[in-house]
Amino acid sequence: MEITRRDVALDFDPTTVPKDWAGDTYMTTYLGALSLLFPEGENFFVSSVKHYRAGITSPELQRDVAGFIGQEAMHGREHRQFNDLLVAHGHTEAPIIEARLRWFLNRVVKKVLSPKSQLAVTCALEHFTAMLAEQLLRDDRLRNELHPTVRALWMWHALEEVEHKAVAFDVYRSAGGGYARRVAIMLLTSVVFFTVQSMTHRRLMARRKIQWKPWRWVRGMTRQWIWPGFNLRLIPSYLAYFRPGFHPGDHDAGELLDRSRDQLFTTGGLRLRSGT
Ligand SMILES: [Fe+2]
Ligand SMILES: [Fe+2]
Repeated sequence: MEITRRDVALDFDPTTVPKDWAGDTYMTTYLGALSLLFPEGENFFVSSVKHYRAGITSPELQRDVAGFIGQEAMHGREHRQFNDLLVAHGHTEAPIIEARLRWFLNRVVKKVLSPKSQLAVTCALEHFTAMLAEQLLRDDRLRNELHPTVRALWMWHALEEVEHKAVAFDVYRSAGGGYARRVAIMLLTSVVFFTVQSMTHRRLMARRKIQWKPWRWVRGMTRQWIWPGFNLRLIPSYLAYFRPGFHPGDHDAGELLDRSRDQLFTTGGLRLRSGT
């Protein structure tokens, strides 16, 4: 499957996109926190893959890497624009959160971890994004609550995360990355990712003044962890990563991708800026 960079035309107008663009404040701030982590996170993913690009001998993998870099660059651009919408909605803390994450990735992660371990971090986080993305594409209960403009962003991003879910992993293997490092880094990354995501989410909830009002967020937590348990249902996919023979492509998502492309670009009417 070819990994295509799509120059999508999205526009987030704070006067037409409601403040609770994901149905309620809890879910809006949860997804908003993820969006704030994307641009810097994706920069990190790209730099960790680029480090090994010159040594890749397979022309197919070279082509996939070019597609991966192109897609992640577009995600970063569109989520930056989306994050400006969050600022327009009153989240003036957003640039500080992004600056802190940039500092953490550049001054801590890149200084402490070797290039191969940095690539293993990318593999771990690409596994997370692919799991979340597949769920968003499969489960219309989640995406139906999103405002249409916002839904286009998340569905397009989800589609491409599933399309390129194996690229960083294949680069890791071609660079000689092994099992022990992969799973050790997954455990470390899981702890750091959930800590950073929860801290960011809490900060956004505080801005919206629901942090100390559990009746405002208990429904969201119940939906995530109990019923229908969106996060709970991701646990088997998460655990699959710990199998020694795991590969992201083990689980074929071809049909889901075809249907999602159609929903997004044919019936959904998402336009591209250029003819990509
Ligand atoms: Fe992405
Ligand atoms: Fe990605």
